[in-house]
Amino acid sequence: MPLVSGKLLFSVAHEYGFCIGAFNFSNMEFLKAILETAEELEAPVFVQTTESAIKYAGIEFLSGMVKEVSDKFKIPFALHLDHGKSVETVLKAIRHGYTSVMIDYSDKPLDENIEVTRYVVSLCAPLGISVEGEVGILGGVEDEVKGLKEKLTDPEEAEKYVESTGIDALAPAVGTAHGPFKYSESPFIDISLIEEIKKKLNMPLVLHGASSVYEEYIEEINRYGGEIRNAKGVSEDLIKKSIESGINKINTDTDLRLAFLSGLRRIIMEERKATDPRKLIGPAMEEVKEVIKRRILLYGSEGKACLI
Ligand code: G3H
Ligand code: 13P
Ligand code: ZN
Repeated sequence: MPLVSGKLLFSVAHEYGFCIGAFNFSNMEFLKAILETAEELEAPVFVQTTESAIKYAGIEFLSGMVKEVSDKFKIPFALHLDHGKSVETVLKAIRHGYTSVMIDYSDKPLDENIEVTRYVVSLCAPLGISVEGEVGILGGVEDEVKGLKEKLTDPEEAEKYVESTGIDALAPAVGTAHGPFKYSESPFIDISLIEEIKKKLNMPLVLHGASSVYEEYIEEINRYGGEIRNAKGVSEDLIKKSIESGINKINTDTDLRLAFLSGLRRIIMEERKATDPRKLIGPAMEEVKEVIKRRILLYGSEGKACLI
């Protein structure tokens, strides 16, 4: 199936009340693992790249791989720009065939966020490209980088933002954070806030910073020489409740990174005579595929490709 617009994925997930996985990639191995696993489970999926992924690999390589392989897969999937921080990056993504973008001005004043998002929608809508926007501030990477304090989404602000911009999907800040160190205490998501926003806006919602940071991977990483302390993610129970409350797309990056790292560290120690990187990276990618499978099953998007 050719690449599809995120509009299609968002609207079907919202209409049928389920959640589609969105997984980040920066290289061929991760892209292949995501698409092959989603295909095996007949699950629609978003494959997405951040600006730093684009800086690392080059947008020609990232988008080129996706376009070249798209007909090989039967599942519908979208190529999405994750956390686009400028109109310039959005334009670059449009030129390279992305079928969905996120414009993230959530750290700017609401009026500025609205103005830029509205402009991005005016560029994307005629091309059938979906636009995701964010109101509120997540913890973790966004917090660290900008030195801003986490700010949960105000439903009134979200309503004003959505009505003034015409976005296809909204990412509210509901207590999650990017990266492996999400909480100093127990995992928390403001489920009633998701419910309130869903009821008020009746539109597709996206959950960022949703990795579960599985203990088995952290233990394995540390057993084989890593030093990751006090990592904590979102429990699977909270993920399920978020989906029941109206989340339709969940972004996962950290869990894939941790699965890869745990596999790689173990294999490097076990295969001490190996000189071929493929003998190390190949088995580590099996761990990544396992975690992608676990997440797709958790989201309930297995077998949903036929709805699109
Ligand atoms: O946005 C969330 C990502 O997990 C951070 O990704 O390191 O590619 O910017 P990045
Ligand atoms: P995690 O760091 O929890 O995987 O979140 C990723 C994300 O939100 C990408 O946009
Ligand atoms: Zn994010």
